[in-house]
Amino acid sequence: MLGTAIEVVEGDITRQRVDAIVNAANASLLGGGGVDGAIHRAAGPGLLAECRTLGGCPTGEARITGGHDLPARFVIHTVGPVWRGGTHGEDELLARCYRNSLVLAKQHGVKTIAFPSISTGAYGFPVRRAAPIALREIAAFLTRDKAIHRATIVCFGPETLLAYEDAAVEVGDEG
Ligand code: APR
Repeated sequence: MLGTAIEVVEGDITRQRVDAIVNAANASLLGGGGVDGAIHRAAGPGLLAECRTLGGCPTGEARITGGHDLPARFVIHTVGPVWRGGTHGEDELLARCYRNSLVLAKQHGVKTIAFPSISTGAYGFPVRRAAPIALREIAAFLTRDKAIHRATIVCFGPETLLAYEDAAVEVGDEG
């Protein structure tokens, strides 16, 4: 069941006016390219300074920082799996990224959260395999726990948008 609390949009996650945006980081949490680079550029140097105090993050887990110069109050940094063909637990590790980000968000009173398409860029996770995993995990959490009012998947480009829109229909039809 994909309730109205979940939306799929095209855009730039750094501009989302939500309580928390999620960053697709690497285990060092010290910045990178892609959405990680965009978030650090928009948040300013204070974000990296705060990330330095965290001591990294294992794949599948999440850590929270302030939003610094971003519109969002918080940044939740999660480390997605690198795609290695699909037989190394990548699906479960990706699901854990969404689940652990939502658990952490709830612990900090977050009501609105925006996710990028974790692992489907530099980490090579096929987006049409990742999208249903992401939406199922988010739908399961928001159906079970009303603490978080809205989750938005912010797709950067038409291919990702189409993949999540198609997955939203697929997951929504699962009842
Ligand atoms: N807003 C939303 N989504 C974005 C943005 C943005 N401003 N910029 C990029 N994206 C999208 C990409 O198009 C892709 O769909 O985020 C998705 C994830 O891609 P990556 O950022 O490459 O992240 P990932 O595949 O998880 O790889 C993580 O890349 O940037 C490094 O430090 C990061 O080492 C880590 C690795």
